[in-house]
Amino acid sequence: MRVEITILVENTTPVPKLIGEYGFAALVKTDNQQILFDTGSKDALLTNSIILGINLEKIDSIVLSHGHFDHTGALVPLLGKYGGKPIYAHSNLFARRPFKRGANNFQDIGCAFTKKSAEEKGAEFKFIDHPTEIYPHIYCSGEVPRVTDYEDVGGNFKCEANGELIDDKLIDDGALIVDHPEGLIILSGCAHSGIINMIKHAIAITGQSKVLAFIGGTHLIRASDERLAKTVTALREIDISQIIVSHCTGFYAAAKLYNELGSKVIKGETGMTFKY
Ligand SMILES: [Fe+2]
Ligand SMILES: [Fe+2]
Repeated sequence: MRVEITILVENTTPVPKLIGEYGFAALVKTDNQQILFDTGSKDALLTNSIILGINLEKIDSIVLSHGHFDHTGALVPLLGKYGGKPIYAHSNLFARRPFKRGANNFQDIGCAFTKKSAEEKGAEFKFIDHPTEIYPHIYCSGEVPRVTDYEDVGGNFKCEANGELIDDKLIDDGALIVDHPEGLIILSGCAHSGIINMIKHAIAITGQSKVLAFIGGTHLIRASDERLAKTVTALREIDISQIIVSHCTGFYAAAKLYNELGSKVIKGETGMTFKY
């Protein structure tokens, strides 16, 4: 099984002419499938794919990690350009998520589209809340059990429930997992469920304890020193070859992980490709 992953959208890029954009999106190519994981927040997906010579018309489906704008923002433009696709996501994707930026300043950071607006462009939603093998050896994680005591969603996120604002546990946050013969490849949008919870869940679903790569957001950007230290300890106990951190990891957490774990930690940016 050959797997090639190209980061199409990430906050930054080392490649001239590509656009760095707040968010995350990656193309996962296997021998038989092409899956788009997340879409970034706006224009970068379509622009970068064209510059990289990638034809997104060929993708078989789209997997959305969770209902934040920076992972869903280019979905409707994508479908508008290339036609309808199956979309795998958690059923809580469309939760309303006002984020407080000032005394009376709330911004909606939730899913960037409505179900209706996407369906009008041909979206076929397949809601997945539990671990599901969507293609041979390729899984959507569904809800990630929160088993560690030091990981949290990574911020003061709120969502609406019965007309009230409550703490948002981001239950829709999930991973795309490729069960490669040499180990797991785990793609994450933000890992609001926690990078360690996510990796443990992927291992539990597949029964494969070797991890080839974790790729994507970790939401360690505001993590305490204590959480970072415990995350490093947990990563040392996991048989993992590459930790490719992106997006909401932040400079300090990325530097800390690199200092502690060495060259297996890579900063994943727009335009980078990884082959397994
Ligand atoms: Fe994000
Ligand atoms: Fe997020």
